[in-house]
Amino acid sequence: MNKFSRIGFILAAAGSAVGLGNIWRFPYITGEYGGGAFILIYLLAILFIGLTMFLAEAVIGQNGQSDVSTSFVALSTSKNKNWKFAGFMVATGLIILSFYSVVLGWILDYVITSFSTLPNEASIAGANFERLISEDVGSLIVYHTLIAGTVIFIVLKGIKDGIEKINLILMPLLGLILAGLLIYALTLDSFSQAVSFMFTPDFSKIDSHALLAALGQAFFTLSLGVGTILTYSASLPKKANFVKSSIVVAIVDTVIALVAGLIIFTFLFTAGAESAAGPGLVFISLPVIFSGWGMLGHIIAVSFFVALVFAGITSAVSMIEPALRFFIERYKISRQKATLICGGSFYFLGIIALLSMSKSFGAHLTFFGKNAFDIMDFMTSSIMMPLAAILICIFLAYFVEKDTLKEKFLAHTNETVFNIWYFLIKFIVPIAITILLLNKLGAI
Ligand code: PHE
Repeated sequence: MNKFSRIGFILAAAGSAVGLGNIWRFPYITGEYGGGAFILIYLLAILFIGLTMFLAEAVIGQNGQSDVSTSFVALSTSKNKNWKFAGFMVATGLIILSFYSVVLGWILDYVITSFSTLPNEASIAGANFERLISEDVGSLIVYHTLIAGTVIFIVLKGIKDGIEKINLILMPLLGLILAGLLIYALTLDSFSQAVSFMFTPDFSKIDSHALLAALGQAFFTLSLGVGTILTYSASLPKKANFVKSSIVVAIVDTVIALVAGLIIFTFLFTAGAESAAGPGLVFISLPVIFSGWGMLGHIIAVSFFVALVFAGITSAVSMIEPALRFFIERYKISRQKATLICGGSFYFLGIIALLSMSKSFGAHLTFFGKNAFDIMDFMTSSIMMPLAAILICIFLAYFVEKDTLKEKFLAHTNETVFNIWYFLIKFIVPIAITILLLNKLGAI
């Protein structure tokens, strides 16, 4: 049977969790919300909301041993067939993957250009970035094709020879590159400034936006609400300790986000650069800093962007897997056929996403003032992921026998842990996510 080994599961789930969310998004939103206090809230969100949801997906997946739909039906008390509709969440991963692959394409361009040229001024770096995403459609299509092709090639080989193997190779390499960059950051004077920025809380910067941003980030970074963790857990041997594995993955993900933050803020502060530059932090601010470091700057730039590609690829393969498994199990088609359908769909949507940001096609692919790229991002992270998460909570709290769940948890942990988890999943997590959803929809 095509299953993960224990370590394979941990690596693959960590590979899914650690992605652009950790190395690109986490540092820039931490910068925007002023550092320490935001990180503190983020850590609480990971512990109480993120880890709780992670365990929820893991327990459903491991016991269902199947795709999202089938696992829901199997675990529900009444075996009610309508739970198959929970399978809608597999579409979320495909949509995220469409624009995630486009962003990975930008990063591929940065890997290549970092070998030869680095911009020495923010205005030049900004103009380069702008040109890449709005004018250089040809290159973007090539990059997107390369990334999509790589993802498809890996998943075609299946869980063990594809997904587990790529994680076994890329995760240690990612760890090595980040360790190297961290060691270099440690030698710089601004390291202590980065530490105090990240770990001295200034609560005046925190408002409801910051709270919700921390919650949203905790969700995205742990790959929740997409069926990814659920589907990966379905390939976890039935006796494996899902509680311990979930905790390890949450810790690895958090440590990597913090390390990425330390590296990036140290670099930024060395040059006296702004920490609140937003999404351009990695694409605009960093290259300018690297350009001031001569040869070393090129080496660091290439390693940094390669690390981003590695982190992104291991996440990308995890976004398509729920949909593949869904097609394979429900429609009894081969992995090859499923990959053709799902790969084709996300590749096509990705082309739409990248064209929607271009000068020439943007106007045709903009609806209600938002381009297709932003619409896909909004639909998934603001609507579909929270909806799926709320559904998972309601399902576990009201439609699955409490004793069944208790038994699964008690095989690996004590009753107190189970009771806390159950309380969180029944009350706290759904309320917090409903607030997040309503806020995103502009209702509050
Ligand atoms: N967790 C990944 C990241 O941080 C993104 C992701 C979301 C992966 C949803 C899979 C599913 O980049």
